[in-house]
Amino acid sequence: MVATDAANRNMSRKGLYARYVLPRLTDLTMSRKMLLPYRQHVIGGAAGRVLESGIGSGLNLPLYGDAVEEVIGVDVSPELLAMAERAAQRRGLRVRLLEGSAEHLPSTIADRSVDTVVITWAMCSIPILNRKTDDLLRSVGFRLTHLATGYAPGPRPMAFMYEGQAEP
Ligand SMILES: C[S@@+](CC[C@H](N)C(=O)[O-])C[C@H]1O[C@@H](n2cnc3c(N)ncnc32)[C@H](O)[C@@H]1O
Repeated sequence: MVATDAANRNMSRKGLYARYVLPRLTDLTMSRKMLLPYRQHVIGGAAGRVLESGIGSGLNLPLYGDAVEEVIGVDVSPELLAMAERAAQRRGLRVRLLEGSAEHLPSTIADRSVDTVVITWAMCSIPILNRKTDDLLRSVGFRLTHLATGYAPGPRPMAFMYEGQAEP
């Protein structure tokens, strides 16, 4: 009985953190101005029907240009998706937001139905943190047409980043 109560308390603490703290913290840290040039560079290459995996609070939405006809945003967090919904309304872009995970995309997204897949700072969120993203992309048949790696400027020794573009 005591163990069950403690487990329930732990679960509800985790629930509160995941529901209220983490989404705001994610939005706050990802809104930093120093990330904007990276976003502009990556989003500038998007065209047609775009799938944004791990869309978060929708911080890329204001950056999509006229070459983009629709953005389908997928994320595991309903709270972040609610923020993305507000960002989409402000931008006036055709946006469809779906709760789901990158590993098992919602079945409403048909195979070969998107022109561009955008992922910004969402490939390391999956439990294995030190994944070698470029090797993984190559191993599933993608050809890297652009790749730049390096540490973000400033005193952030852990912020090693990959920026690139790949084609099937
Ligand atoms: C660091 S945030 C980046 C958010 C957004 N891409 C941006 O640039 O602001 C990582 C995002 O990935 C989402 N995420 C984590 N694991 C995921 C998964 N397995 N599938 C889809 N999204 C995931 C998180 O909910 C979060 O929104």
